[in-house]
Amino acid sequence: MFRIAVLVSGNGTNLAAIIDAIKKGYLNVEISVVIADRDCYALKRAKDNNIKTYLVDRKSSNFDEKILDILPKNLDLIVCAGFLSILGEKIINKFKNKIINIHPALLPSFGGKGMYGAKVHKKVIEYGSKISGCTVHFIDENIDGGPIIFQYAVPVFEDDDENSLSERISIFEHQLIVETIRLISLNKIKINGRKVKILE
Ligand code: GRF
Repeated sequence: MFRIAVLVSGNGTNLAAIIDAIKKGYLNVEISVVIADRDCYALKRAKDNNIKTYLVDRKSSNFDEKILDILPKNLDLIVCAGFLSILGEKIINKFKNKIINIHPALLPSFGGKGMYGAKVHKKVIEYGSKISGCTVHFIDENIDGGPIIFQYAVPVFEDDDENSLSERISIFEHQLIVETIRLISLNKIKINGRKVKILE
């Protein structure tokens, strides 16, 4: 069984999409654990689905070691789904090319330190961008800088605010994160340096 850990910090809509895809039989994976870095609604979503949960406060000392202690040894993939803390080298090196993240913009634009959630959409609108979207990428030592797996573009409308843009993008976030997990679980994603190849 392909085992994943899901790291969360917020509402958990991406976690919910993964859970729904498993229930529908579209994803043949097991969520071994959900780890949050703060109390958040995503933890309730996990508990309601009888998934083991942990809360490792983002301010706690040896944050990375605590997460590493919790992560199952036979883990195949770590999914950062609305996770706001930055993972340290220990985790990144131990799970090289086995950690993915979903970002609510078309990286490398509107990414990097401090760029998350509504702040991203506000910047996109302020800048006057005509398209935005979402990116699924591998996590490496550069914040939001790891090799890109999938991107999906959506239009930015003149009357958009951060909420309407976020809603439009999140539909595709949920599709992309599920599809990425599915392809990785089927060993259909190959990475060579920064180049990510999807095998049919
Ligand atoms: C989403 O915008 C996601 O792209 C970002 O965190 C936000 C909340 O995600 N990484 P979720 O609803 O907690 O899954």
